[in-house]
Amino acid sequence: MRPNDGAETAPDAPEREEEALRHVRRPLPHDSGVKHASGAATYVDDIRAPEGTLHLAVGGSPKARGRLLTLDLSAVRAHPGVVAVLTAADVPGKNDIAPALADDPLFAEGEVSFHGQVLFAVVAETREAARRAARLAKVEIEAERPSVTVEDALARGETVLPDYAFGRGDPDAALAAAPRRLEGTLRIGGQEHFYLEGQAALAVPGEDGDITVHSSTQHPTEVQHVVARVLGIPDAFVTCEVRRMGGGFGGKESQATQWAALAALAARVTGRPCKLRLDRDDDMAMTGKRHDFRVGWRVGFDDDGRIAGYDVMYDARCGYSADLSLGVVDRAMFHADNAYFLPAVRVASRRLKTNTVSNTAFRGFGGPQGMLAVERVMDAIAWATGRDPLDVRKANFYAPGRDRTPYGQEVEDADLLRDLVETLERDCDYRVRRGAIAAFNARSPILKKGLALTPVKFGISFTLTHLNQAGALVHVYTDGSIHLNHGGTEMGQGLFIKVAQVVAEEFGVALERVRITATTTAKVPNTAPTAASAGSDLNGMAARAAARTIRKRLAAFAAETWGVPEAEVAFRDDRVFIGNESLTFGELARKAHQARIQLSAAGFYRTPKIHWDRDKGEGRPFFYFAYGAACSEVTIDTLTGEMRVDRIDILHDVGRSLNPAIDIGQIEGGFVQGMGWLTTEELIFDEEGRLLTHAPSTYKIPVASDVPADFRVALYPSGNREETIYRSKAVGEPPLMLAICVFSAIADAVHSLAPGRPVPLDAPATPEAILKAVQMLGGSP
Ligand code: MTE
Ligand code: MOS
Repeated sequence: MRPNDGAETAPDAPEREEEALRHVRRPLPHDSGVKHASGAATYVDDIRAPEGTLHLAVGGSPKARGRLLTLDLSAVRAHPGVVAVLTAADVPGKNDIAPALADDPLFAEGEVSFHGQVLFAVVAETREAARRAARLAKVEIEAERPSVTVEDALARGETVLPDYAFGRGDPDAALAAAPRRLEGTLRIGGQEHFYLEGQAALAVPGEDGDITVHSSTQHPTEVQHVVARVLGIPDAFVTCEVRRMGGGFGGKESQATQWAALAALAARVTGRPCKLRLDRDDDMAMTGKRHDFRVGWRVGFDDDGRIAGYDVMYDARCGYSADLSLGVVDRAMFHADNAYFLPAVRVASRRLKTNTVSNTAFRGFGGPQGMLAVERVMDAIAWATGRDPLDVRKANFYAPGRDRTPYGQEVEDADLLRDLVETLERDCDYRVRRGAIAAFNARSPILKKGLALTPVKFGISFTLTHLNQAGALVHVYTDGSIHLNHGGTEMGQGLFIKVAQVVAEEFGVALERVRITATTTAKVPNTAPTAASAGSDLNGMAARAAARTIRKRLAAFAAETWGVPEAEVAFRDDRVFIGNESLTFGELARKAHQARIQLSAAGFYRTPKIHWDRDKGEGRPFFYFAYGAACSEVTIDTLTGEMRVDRIDILHDVGRSLNPAIDIGQIEGGFVQGMGWLTTEELIFDEEGRLLTHAPSTYKIPVASDVPADFRVALYPSGNREETIYRSKAVGEPPLMLAICVFSAIADAVHSLAPGRPVPLDAPATPEAILKAVQMLGGSP
């Protein structure tokens, strides 16, 4: 036991367990919902800028790879309104914004590594002047042919991190001995985050060189560290604050830092507040995306489709630097199995360096790409054996005795997933509709329907174990109002309302008493990013620990003052019941203050049970798994490649929900975002390494009309076997992967044209890709 283990994981008092709960479990709206919809919510760019605020614009490299020969900024400096022009030479600390490996310069120096890489920044009286001036730079680069594709990087043998693999048994022998074998390659596209609020930061200089940075970031602590590193000052001189983001989706986990550091550097050089808000095209060209992959696989199986051996190679296009590629590609590997037991298995990866923007976190953090490959394998086995794809999937599910992942973690709730899938299969009439679709396809020459039901098993915890910790700070004021602060950030996902519900529950007070406040490194230090879906698991526990400390002090004070046992002090309905007496929460707070009881506390939590030995490829990286399944029915037009989603059924496991309204919103939003990734969102780089799809005119995200008209979402009734906050489960990322069923249903529709043949369809399944696959199978009949 370490000193605070008890407080961290103390189970809920039984009487508070279910019937007595007043705040958690309620389907409350997002605390900022009305403000989001009415335009009253404050984002970084809405903060009323202090008098004299200057504005930044950045200048990017016109080439993707080469040597920087000249950077002539005289015309930029001479432009009216320009106050300063910044380059690497102006950095007082380190010219490095990398999250880990010192391979991301704030300004490129000597060499350029991708098209659009920041070379300089202009600071001017207006944003317009800064943007105009930035265009006047004269840049000369001795250009080299860039590596753009997986093949380019493999040919040059360039990687951002060493190759990595783990596995079990002898997959080659298992493949050789298996009655049947298949192999294939799947290409999986990347994805632009397309948060509605782009990257933004406002830096305000203070005294003695200290600085406050308002940043649209999922990781205030990293912004603090990077600003301190760039300016060459101690962390304690930098405060990072974020009230909310207009979406992050992983794109602001490591990649908000550059813009914050630029604004901070400008503030340092000019002595004035400085703001940087990236233009949408710059944001798309200059910030990293979901990694795209080429996946090569070989599988050996029997006539029932049950896998004996599996060998998979994930080639990830990481871009020019490591960024978060260690964790992202590891997570892809951790999800190579998805829901399936792979008896003999090798999971290998290469993290390829390309002269493109550095790819980064994106909802699912590699998990979606990892899973999509094995789901393609399930379909391929079904096509080869003539079995229903759902039967092939079920034949391979984890089950008692077949319950070890390739990395050695036991899947303790294999029965839950089977029951969840079978419940959905029944509730959505899978078998009946399978028959109806076959009949439809037999009589419909042009339009073809497809159906697929796919599962999700997603590991919850940061695989970098030390990130699984959180802190919170709670104050009770003498009027009984409560100030809540924790290390998590709000990006629209509903973290703040969930944590406020937990605190209101702990004190037995009305939710309105709990004031939600902006995340700041000055109140809760040394935080992890809000990521890996672990926000409410971690911060909910930390906030409860803080609130519980204060509640215990109040209870002890009340028991002593009124002369009753502590067990007879109860906090509920906004009152405190003490033996036969009762008073309001505010009255007790005031009396406690008079008696000099401390009404402020910090809380801390670290996730128990997890450990991971990366060298051995063994351990329990995840505290638990979140599960779900989805079924989709689609129609494709074999003459045009167009596709329509006719119906979606989802059954998803959020444990015992803290807030079912928020959770269902996350499931719907995550699913639609996943659908976009797999059907319409396509990133195209030309041979020069230029991103051609850098605006909504060429990059198609889903809109309201793309949401399936028949969209049924249900929560699977279960708890969490582990002691998480009120037995809930993380929900932020897992639902994105439910959308794999849409990709699979499209492949199923194409497959109906040539039963038994493999469907040559990569992701995203855009209309062009569908049409191409149809034509490769002989075209429409
Ligand atoms: N939901 C909204 N509305 N906006 C977002 O940016 N990010 C997702 C998910 N849901 C996101 C979102 C990602 S990538 C993660 S990791 C989680 O929310 C982070 O928040 P949580 O840990 O509190 O679930
Ligand atoms: Mo989410 S990709 O972990 O920010």
